[in-house]
Amino acid sequence: IWHICSAIITAYLLGSIPSAIWYGEAYFGIDVRKFGSGNAGATNTFRVLGKRAGTIVLLIDVLKGWTATKLASILFFLEVIQPAQVPTFKLILGFAAVLGHLYPIFVRFKGGKGVATSLGMILAIDPLVASVCIVIFVLVLLVSHYVSLSSIIAAFAFPMMLVLGIFGKASTLLIVFGFLLFAVVVITHQKNIVRLLNGNESRVNLWGRRK
Ligand code: G3P
Repeated sequence: IWHICSAIITAYLLGSIPSAIWYGEAYFGIDVRKFGSGNAGATNTFRVLGKRAGTIVLLIDVLKGWTATKLASILFFLEVIQPAQVPTFKLILGFAAVLGHLYPIFVRFKGGKGVATSLGMILAIDPLVASVCIVIFVLVLLVSHYVSLSSIIAAFAFPMMLVLGIFGKASTLLIVFGFLLFAVVVITHQKNIVRLLNGNESRVNLWGRRK
């Protein structure tokens, strides 16, 4: 039980790393939460600090979710959990990282919206379905130029593909977590949804300037 608790805490701490805030402060002396959408995420870093910074923050945030999820394999390797328990622990640890990203202990529990970290989590669980989500995200982004809309649609596509069993049968627990991640994305994007409906959500282009 001690190993399991430390793995969950480690996953949460990994997710808690506020890459957007720390990167912005370290390299630009700028707190991204004071500009753009005010969100401590890759999109807002891209918007405020440019393409390179946004890409680095995106990669770190994806990696946080991916690494935390993969901690399940270490638990298995240490013989703390049985092979049959690995999928369940991947979900628990990945979700702990997403919660860490949303409520980071290092910056007074005010973090990002959980899209990149959730992507890292699902990449570690089902790379094929996760890759299709990325394709859907990119297509919606190319057409709409709204990152928030692309995030919401891709987050919905994930559990839907599992339910429809397009790429094989998924466990009920995975489907439940898929919808849980979608719910998290909808909740964290409430303001974006209002702006989308009002037609004043900010658009991005691939050069990182606001339109
Ligand atoms: O991942 C967050 C993205 O979907 C929206 O970010 O900064 O436009 O609110 P932002």
